[in-house]
Amino acid sequence: MTVTIRQVGPCFAGEIDGIDMRRPLTRDEVAAIHAGMDKYAVLVFRDQKITDAQQLAFTQSLGEIEHAIGTSLRAANETRLPTTFADVSNLDKNNTPYPRDDRRRLFAIGNRLWHSDSSFKTTPAKYSLLHAVSIPSKGGDTQFADMRAAYDALDDDTKAEVEGMVCEHSQMFSRQLIGFSDFTDEERERFRPVRQCMVRTHPVTGRKSLYLSSHAGEIVGWPMPEARGYLRDLIEHATQREFVYTHKWRVDDLVMWDNRQTMHRARPFPAHEPRDMRRTTLIGDGPTAEQVAA
Ligand SMILES: [Fe+2]
Repeated sequence: MTVTIRQVGPCFAGEIDGIDMRRPLTRDEVAAIHAGMDKYAVLVFRDQKITDAQQLAFTQSLGEIEHAIGTSLRAANETRLPTTFADVSNLDKNNTPYPRDDRRRLFAIGNRLWHSDSSFKTTPAKYSLLHAVSIPSKGGDTQFADMRAAYDALDDDTKAEVEGMVCEHSQMFSRQLIGFSDFTDEERERFRPVRQCMVRTHPVTGRKSLYLSSHAGEIVGWPMPEARGYLRDLIEHATQREFVYTHKWRVDDLVMWDNRQTMHRARPFPAHEPRDMRRTTLIGDGPTAEQVAA
């Protein structure tokens, strides 16, 4: 079957036809998907009635997996899924929605802020692949913003200012923004900030993009309040309507996005309803900035 892609977002994001994830990909299909990601940065695959094993096999045919270890507040004995998956659901290990004031749920509400997955890791994520197993009766959309278009729209002074800029990213910074700050000493150590460059250049297309994320809480060499204000202004600029695609989920959608070229956020939904979303992730090529020696 031929692979075709039609644009669904304002300036990016495509819906792809001709891929069946229950079957191994051909070399041409792998090439078409990577080329589609280079161009659209977000690809929507509809009606993928796949098992976790099929999602994992599909992901691994595109690159090397990033494992989800120590990135949420779920204890190791409370997980529903192996570390090859990030559990983006609101469900405990018995598939019951967390109570409204559950600490694990409140931490996960940080995903409703604009972010790039794993920007808090020294080697951050390349692609994320999110499969909708069950969805709430309303809400729960995922929005994506094109960081290439956002970069292109900066004025020349700002382009010069962000060039070479380095930020510190941590899940503690994003959670501070929603008033969640009661971290244990172990969590503070685990969520220690890492450094990321602000401007990234795509290795294939050569396009520049802003590497923004609500996990960014400091700009190296800047006073904190000035840095926080600057980051807030940049995110506001980068998430204007003309740069944003809103995905309304259907069961068995799989959406794949490039974390190097986009930000995304989840939208709210009724707390008592299950939203079972399973994410596999491809690891990036390496760190984007030099780290501070431990
Ligand atoms: Fe995310």
